[in-house]
Amino acid sequence: MRILLLGSGGREHALAWKLNQSVWTNPLYIAPGNPGTAKCGINVQLDITDFEAIRKFCILEKIEMVIVGPEEPLVNGLFDFFKATPELEKIYFIGPSKAGAQLEGSKAFAKAFMHRHGIPTANYREFTRENYEDGVKYLQEHSLPIVLKADGLAAGKGVVICQSYVEAIAEFELMIQEAKFGEASKKVVVEDFLSGIELSVFAITDGKNYLILPEAKDYKRVGEGDKGLMTGGMGAVSPVPFATPGFMHKIEQRIIRPTIEGIFKEGIEYTGFIFFGLINVNGDPYVIEYNCRLGDPETEVVIPRLETDLVGLCIAATQQELDKVDLRVDKRAAATIMAVSKGYPMGYEKGFAIDGLDGKYGKQSLVFQAGTTESEKKTVTQGGRVLCVTSFGENIEDAVNTSLDVLDHIYYEGIYYRTDIGFEFKQTNH
Ligand code: GLY
Repeated sequence: MRILLLGSGGREHALAWKLNQSVWTNPLYIAPGNPGTAKCGINVQLDITDFEAIRKFCILEKIEMVIVGPEEPLVNGLFDFFKATPELEKIYFIGPSKAGAQLEGSKAFAKAFMHRHGIPTANYREFTRENYEDGVKYLQEHSLPIVLKADGLAAGKGVVICQSYVEAIAEFELMIQEAKFGEASKKVVVEDFLSGIELSVFAITDGKNYLILPEAKDYKRVGEGDKGLMTGGMGAVSPVPFATPGFMHKIEQRIIRPTIEGIFKEGIEYTGFIFFGLINVNGDPYVIEYNCRLGDPETEVVIPRLETDLVGLCIAATQQELDKVDLRVDKRAAATIMAVSKGYPMGYEKGFAIDGLDGKYGKQSLVFQAGTTESEKKTVTQGGRVLCVTSFGENIEDAVNTSLDVLDHIYYEGIYYRTDIGFEFKQTNH
């Protein structure tokens, strides 16, 4: 099967690595990919926001399946573009319709969807310029902390947790009146703050059936002990020790099943991955957010733990036959540690040569590239999140230590990574 994978980060390297192992794959194209994905298939220099360029490439290369990594093309309607284009409509497409992608593309849509289907989430109100003064009053009467969310996509920066009324009102004004996040913050969702421990749960759905993939926990803050600025993710572990069968049962009954049933009942076309960003509040799961794609860096632990053939799984989703798939998962723990550029998530320099990428490490470790590029035949840094090292282990501590050993042999100027990923689970068996 001729496959085109869209995206260029660590998530896409992990997906490309897995897709490349399938007997179905022949060949695999990654657009635009990175030097890591080039080892799993053929990188093509396509702008993934340019639908016309994607159309031409798919026709030229007789693409049979498209798998979309990041949210942006989905929120912009790539699925709908394929279905409305006669030469593309039969291509198997992994990613939801524009309507389905609204679960990520509009926080207000997601909250209203959850409300309609009785899915547990924090209480909220939504505000625009039209009811701005009501919003200020609502904030003044709200308990602290207050969560403000830009409605649209804001490159992962659109959620602000405000610890004071002054901060909340200033942020609210910036978002709505000053368009801090452009169109994305013309509407703002104000949410109650939920206190608990977060986890990420993933499913693949055909819009009717679903399969739950291994869960993961990511570490979003830049500093050790989960301190400092928010990032795109500094590491992840899977499985999550507190995701016991009982807790996962609650997640499935209260969140996953009603979400998929809601998608079905509302006639939303959705074939692809769905990411449930959850929080465990005293043993009860609540939805913090939906994403219409896999997480990064969670994918770098979830996909290596998946034993089932990924192409077969995607084909089954497109045929609405997920109920016939036997999902097999590696029982071992996996941990990934993200190495970033000095200064990330603020400004950083790039273009530093990376040494040690071809080092010899055991079969239990994988190096996935994220923000890298090729320059003068060398792999160099190109992004804030540069690469991540995933390892398997008997437990999380073991997996983390193995990744740290591999990272000891990788170097570029300004390399930084957290050494404490999975810190709260180190004494447990998983
Ligand atoms: N790791 C969180 C995300 O992918 O959005």
